[in-house]
Amino acid sequence: AATRGFAERVVTWQRQHGRHALPWQNTHDPYRIWLSEIMLQQTQVATVMPYYARFLERFPTVADLAAAPQAVVMELWAGLGYYARARNLHACAQQVVEKWGGKFPPTAEDIQTLPGIGRSTAAAIAAFAYGERSPILDGNVKRVFARHFGIHGDPTTRAVELRMWDYAEKALPPIGPDTPDAMRSYTQGLMDLGATICKRGDPDCGVCPVRATCVALREARQHELPTARIR
Ligand code: ADE
Repeated sequence: AATRGFAERVVTWQRQHGRHALPWQNTHDPYRIWLSEIMLQQTQVATVMPYYARFLERFPTVADLAAAPQAVVMELWAGLGYYARARNLHACAQQVVEKWGGKFPPTAEDIQTLPGIGRSTAAAIAAFAYGERSPILDGNVKRVFARHFGIHGDPTTRAVELRMWDYAEKALPPIGPDTPDAMRSYTQGLMDLGATICKRGDPDCGVCPVRATCVALREARQHELPTARIR
């Protein structure tokens, strides 16, 4: 299949060339990973850094965050934008305390029941915190998949998105003793690939770990994919 060997090359590349020193990479604490993923949803890494440090200093545990007044949370968030994220963050912390006894939900499926957490964010948290074998599919990963697997059509439409989830599941690292480690490297590797190599405007195909099997590169269509939204 088109997905053969894809994950292994992403994992190997991530371990050799990916990002390893980001503050949320030095932990398996689901609270710290969750906080980073919410902040990184619509905000760049460099901007998130100081906010992330301040949040953890002020709220070292999910219980500390849940107990804080909403106004204090909003004040610490001020400048990051997309303020619904901060309100959901606070509501999530309170649900983790009230419904999960202060322990973060143990699977991606359970994490996805929290306010404002979609399938991809839940999977990213479960992969980084628990090594769970669950696929991510954010905007950057959709671009990588559209190009590598040659998936045409607007990825914001339900039909194309469903096809991409299908590829995302089939492309996962195989089940085995190394699965949790592989899932952490693979999930970070997909994000790193989308952010640093398979860029929107000018992909660096010459140094891409999956260039040998990339449909878009083979057909010289990397600038046509993903298909632009009709508007
Ligand atoms: N964007 C979303 N999640 C990220 C992560 N774990 N590392 C870097 N950028 C990200």
